Amino acid sequence: MPGGPDVWSTSGMVSRATSDLHLDLAEGRGVREGLMEAVREAVRSGRLAPGSRLPSSRSLAADLGLARNTVADAYSELAAEGWLTARQGSGTRVAPRAEPGHRHADPARPRPPGLARPAHDLRPGQPDVAAFPRAAWLRALRRTLAAAPDEAFGYGDDRGRHELRTALAEHLARARGVRTTPDRIVVCAGAVHGLALLADLLRGRRVRRVAGESHALHLHRELLEQRGLAVAALPVDDAGARTDLLDGEGAVLLTPAHQFPTGVALRPDRRAAAVDWARATGGLVIEDDYDGEFRYDRRPVGALQGLDPERVVHLGTASKALAPGLRLGWLVLPAGLAAEVERLVAAEGGTRVPAVEQLVLAELLASGAYDRHVRERRQAYRRRRDELVAALAARVPEVAVRGLAAGLHALVELPAGDGPPGTAETAALRSAAWHGLAVEGLDRFRHPDAAPRADALVVGYATPSPSAWAGALEALCRTLARPAG
Ligand SMILES: Cc1ncc(COP(=O)(O)O)c(C=O)c1O
Repeated sequence: MPGGPDVWSTSGMVSRATSDLHLDLAEGRGVREGLMEAVREAVRSGRLAPGSRLPSSRSLAADLGLARNTVADAYSELAAEGWLTARQGSGTRVAPRAEPGHRHADPARPRPPGLARPAHDLRPGQPDVAAFPRAAWLRALRRTLAAAPDEAFGYGDDRGRHELRTALAEHLARARGVRTTPDRIVVCAGAVHGLALLADLLRGRRVRRVAGESHALHLHRELLEQRGLAVAALPVDDAGARTDLLDGEGAVLLTPAHQFPTGVALRPDRRAAAVDWARATGGLVIEDDYDGEFRYDRRPVGALQGLDPERVVHLGTASKALAPGLRLGWLVLPAGLAAEVERLVAAEGGTRVPAVEQLVLAELLASGAYDRHVRERRQAYRRRRDELVAALAARVPEVAVRGLAAGLHALVELPAGDGPPGTAETAALRSAAWHGLAVEGLDRFRHPDAAPRADALVVGYATPSPSAWAGALEALCRTLARPAG
């Protein structure tokens, strides 16, 4: 329709809640794409409620004067994107709004309305789970089951299998510069479980207050608070956390190799300050080394634990290198604490990580398959990172991309614009929702007592599967591109 968007109107399009639905067809699109966008818009705006039944493709096609196949194709693509569900017998419906759980999901901040499953996912916190090394895992499982002693199927050691602790001690020394022996390692169900054990240990030592980075994973801060520890906010700047400001806290939780979420590495003087503080006060440094194996442009930043194994607990995880679904992590502890943590695990009823999974990881580490997988992933993520940088430089040159030397996410700083702080970030998040893109704003990771930082998005570029990556990157570019004119 010249001079404005086409407006498609149909009565009785939905069997519930809405009796008259207008579908706005954006100009310049193909008919199918225009119809899809119109349905997405109706869902976003709430005019089509979750669970609402859509008319059959035949009757909608008749109402709109379109070919039936056009409507059927649009429905099936929308179903593939997660907007609609199609089930034999119950027809095509708007997908329920409930989202599959995500590590960074925050109940206080509802997801963009209508996004049952985001069409594009660049939230940080997850590797490309499609790249899980299934064949290598299966081979290791076969070897493990054939070779494991009968005693492996008994209750076992509360610290975890000795094969895994031995393989980890060797691997962490070689790859991360960790100084330890197998008897100081406790296998846990992911970093979050390790942190919970440390929180219980600290409470047992009458610690009431710990420090955390001003911008960090909410999950971890909340976990500490739920266990009775007050968490003070340690400012983060371009050299990492201000460890020079540590004071009377009993412990500090840091992400030294690649600060989460700003992406900076802790500068050597700040690393030294953390250890000096711990030595002077008897405090404990907890090093969350969640993505330390993924480094690209710079020489690896060795584990902080290597500076003082008696003061620094190294907390590791298989969530980034392999998959979060494994729930596999490890604590590398000072000599005096290993037995205490072991008792805490025993009090929980023993290790939470099945022995067979532990043996498989030990086998992958010992055979070199783990290293091969990490090397392959490093190359794949580096390519994505380069594509992200190139696409943004070409299409949205006004943003600054930071935190790129390592890890699986980048910080995309937004131009401030004219509005008050936060305006650009809020606008970008709104635009992302509009484009079906799930992504986080930096402010979402801020400790409530901390000052806001520059407006930015935290982009997890490892999250999409290979087939979804190009679409996700395109959605990000469109999200950030200023409208022409
Ligand atoms: C900062 C940080 N630490 C640790 C983890 C890994 O946690 P887990 O081992 O419990 O999966 C993540 C994963 O998202 C993370 O973002």
